[in-house]
This record gives sequence, C-alpha cells and structure tokens, in this order.
Amino acid sequence: MVKSLHRSFVAAALVVALAVGISAPVRAAESGPHAAWMDWQPGNDVTNVASLQRGAAHFMGYCAGCHSLKYVRYARVAEDLNIPEAQMEKLLLLPGSKKGDYITTPLSAADAEAWFGKAPPDLSLITRSKGSDYVYQFMKTFYADPARPTGVDNLALPGTAMPHVLSALQGVQEAKFKVVEKTVDGSKITEKIWESFEAGEPGQLSAEEYDAFLRDTVNFLEYAGEPYKAKRLSLGVWVILFLLVFTLFAYLLKQEYWKDVK
Ligand code: HEC
Repeated sequence: MVKSLHRSFVAAALVVALAVGISAPVRAAESGPHAAWMDWQPGNDVTNVASLQRGAAHFMGYCAGCHSLKYVRYARVAEDLNIPEAQMEKLLLLPGSKKGDYITTPLSAADAEAWFGKAPPDLSLITRSKGSDYVYQFMKTFYADPARPTGVDNLALPGTAMPHVLSALQGVQEAKFKVVEKTVDGSKITEKIWESFEAGEPGQLSAEEYDAFLRDTVNFLEYAGEPYKAKRLSLGVWVILFLLVFTLFAYLLKQEYWKDVK
C-alpha cells in the first residue's frame, strides 16, 4: 500500500515536471523572443559626481529643449553636483531662468503636440518608472526607417514620436531584421525579429564614446529621480555602524541589569 502510494507520487511528480518542461518554451515564445539589446545596461554610478556633471550638461544641451525636469531646481543640482554658481549660470541655466527655478522646458505642450503628435514627457521620474536600463536602451536603439516621419524608428518604443536627437553623435544605424510568418488564431501574420545593428550614417562619436555619453546622461536622470540617493547610500553605512555599536552597549546594559537575578 505504502509502496504503491509512493510510486504514484513519483509518477505524478514526473508528469508535473514534464508539463512544466514542455510549457516553458511555449510561454517564452508567446511573450516575444528575448533579444540581446534588452540586456544592455548603462553601468552608471550615482556617486560619481564628475559623471553627473557631464550628464547635467548633456541634458541641458540635448534634452531640455523638449523635456522638463519639473521636480528639480537648478540650485539643488548645482549644490549636489558641486557646480560653482558662475559655471552653473553659464552652462546650465536656460535663457530666462533663475537659479531657484525648477527645470522647465521652453517648448509648450501645444507646440509639441502639433510638431511631434505627442508632448515629450517630464523626465524627473523616468528612471524610476521605467528604469535606467530602459532609458539607456531607448537612446541606443534608434535606427533608420525612411517610412517614419522622423526617418527613424526605435526598438524599445516602436513607432516613437521622438526624433533621434543624438544622431549627430551616434550616427544613424541600420537594423537587420528576420521576417517570420506566424499563424495566430487562424490568421497569418508576419513578425519582424531584430537580429543586429549595422553601421549606417556615421556620427561624431565612436560606439564606446556614445555609450559613455549615454551612461553620464542616464546617470544624471537617475540622480534627478532621487536627488538624495547618493547621500542615502553613504548615510546607510553610518546607520549600520551605529546599530552595531548600539547593540554592544544594549548587551552590556542587559548584563548589568540582570547580573544579580539568578
Ligand atoms: C525635439 C524634441 C525632443 C528632444 C530634444 C528630446 N526628446 Fe525625448 N521625447 C520627445 C517626444 C516627442 C517624446 C514622446 C515619444 C513617444 O511617446 O512616442 C519623447 C520621449 C522620451 C522618453 C520616454 C520614452 C517612453 O518610453 O515613454 C525618454 C526617456 C526620452 N524622451 C529621453 C530623451 C533624452 C535623454 C533626450 C536628450 C538626450 C531627449 N529625450 C531629447 C522629444 C524630444
């Protein structure tokens, strides 16, 4: 009796294992193939102040024309990133802004809608809502597509309204796709699966320089999403040290209180 129970248990376990094994690849295919670009990471570090300074300059030079950082003030950036006031006024402030102002964009939402069909979102919290990796991948995966009004499309946000604003730096790469035919619910569809990027129109930067440019820009956006982060991380070490020392004193105190109680 016990033996046969045991045997049927093993058989059931095998069936479950097999079912999981068979269904796993099917499930993976349903959510689309995993492509190499989805693993790209900026490798940034919010405690690297020099990188944040470069990122701030990149943002003001290449992004602030369309995107705001409406929860971040210029003065806060200058203070956190050790940027002297004179330099901040020369390099960061948009014309007409004061150092106590929030970083807004001169582009009005109505103009943006008319020109791009979509208003560029505020980027204060973009790395927190979509992740730093996502922003990096978005900025790295523009490719030439003459059928689009902007002349480019994007792997991370297909059909995006944003033009490739860094094309002078990166160039405009070509994307190679494999076309596969699939039948979904009885109807045939063709699917484009990305295979690789190939050199197209060249830009001013090498591939490594462009990655470094993005690393700094994404780093600054990650800082903007949580200006206190670098301080929080360094403060954390002190909090743990304090707790360790406090534990020691609490233990000594307990020994003292209980020494006569047997
Ligand atoms: C010429 C205007 C313009 C400039 C300059 C610009 N963008 Fe954009 N950006 C847009 C528009 C328009 C959208 C909305 C795209 C959409 O939703 O299809 C957008 C969307 C985005 C998004 C959100 C994507 C998403 O998934 O919703 C990110 C991130 C972004 N831009 C980053 C940048 C960065 C970084 C720079 C500077 C290097 C920059 N943009 C410069 C117009 C611009």
